[in-house]
Amino acid sequence: MNVKELAGQLEIPLILAPMFLVSTPAMTLAACSEGLLGSFPAHGTRTPEVFEEWLIETTEGLERLRGESDGKMIAPFAVNLVVHPSNPRMEGDLEKCIKYRVPVVLTSKGAPPDAVARIHDYGGVVLHDVANRRHAEKALEAGVDGVVAVTAGAGGHTGTINPFALMNEIRRIHDGPIALAGGMTTGRDVLAAQVMGADFAYVGTRFIATAESSAPFGQKQMIVDSIATDIFFSASVDGAPANWLTKSLSAAGIDLDVLRTTRPGKVIAAAETHKRWKDIWTAGHGVGNIDDIPTTAELCRRLKAEYRAAALHPISNDVIDQMAQPSG
Ligand SMILES: Cc1cc2nc3c(=O)[nH]c(=O)nc-3n(C[C@H](O)[C@H](O)[C@H](O)COP(=O)(O)O)c2cc1C
Repeated sequence: MNVKELAGQLEIPLILAPMFLVSTPAMTLAACSEGLLGSFPAHGTRTPEVFEEWLIETTEGLERLRGESDGKMIAPFAVNLVVHPSNPRMEGDLEKCIKYRVPVVLTSKGAPPDAVARIHDYGGVVLHDVANRRHAEKALEAGVDGVVAVTAGAGGHTGTINPFALMNEIRRIHDGPIALAGGMTTGRDVLAAQVMGADFAYVGTRFIATAESSAPFGQKQMIVDSIATDIFFSASVDGAPANWLTKSLSAAGIDLDVLRTTRPGKVIAAAETHKRWKDIWTAGHGVGNIDDIPTTAELCRRLKAEYRAAALHPISNDVIDQMAQPSG
């Protein structure tokens, strides 16, 4: 499959981003059943055996959905693979992606040409996570089909570059597929990403607050209760730059003033019982526009309706009226 064919199998160009300890096969299948690309990270499964169970559940689930679809568009799915020597499961998880012919592999950390070639051999598409132009150049040299531009305000491990700036920089070196990530929560945002030159919008945080997400209820509620200023950026919680829910840092006994001046690295939570990711929660700047916990399918339908409405009226009538006024 090439990326054009992939886009043709989606109702709107939205990728439900893979999220550690949040993504589930149920969430992935719900998105695919609504014509959006669902995904999960391989390392989000406890063991290689559980990863295989998730692959079977997803591929069989998709087959079933396609059998019952009655012409409705059922999207393919994606798996996130950390392709870096530091990941001891890399080779085994890659073999499973090949065995189950995972349609889209979202690679992060490294992009070894060998892994990319093996995914291409069975017809898989590779999109690689990047946070700056240098990352994009290296990934494209390794032969990936396209990149995921992770920009400032994204949930999880984040980039720090403004989305307009990073999109334009990457477009200067790559005229193929780009998925844009960071802060998007509405169908209008997905359309806006396309207007900025992206082929896909990559949406994570909005989906944490859904019924099928395996995030604890406390994290979902904290997202509903938070706004962008409740997100704390730090490379000192787990060693990589990431956005964290401030209230979960405080609940773990972490002094924010100390964290602000701590060098990048893995800080130990004050309470040993509070683990990063499990009890100290990540989310992106989009939290301020999230105020409910719908099912994944309901959310997908809402995003599609918003996207289509925005495509009909990309600029509000008030703005158009305003523009029509003579300036003097
Ligand atoms: C809770 C959470 C867990 C994440 N885990 C992963 C992961 O395991 N692998 C990955 O490539 N990206 C991960 N991400 C990043 C997302 O795939 C995506 O880049 C990001 O959510 C997009 O920004 P947004 O959250 O503002 O929509 C995670 C993000 C969140 C919020």
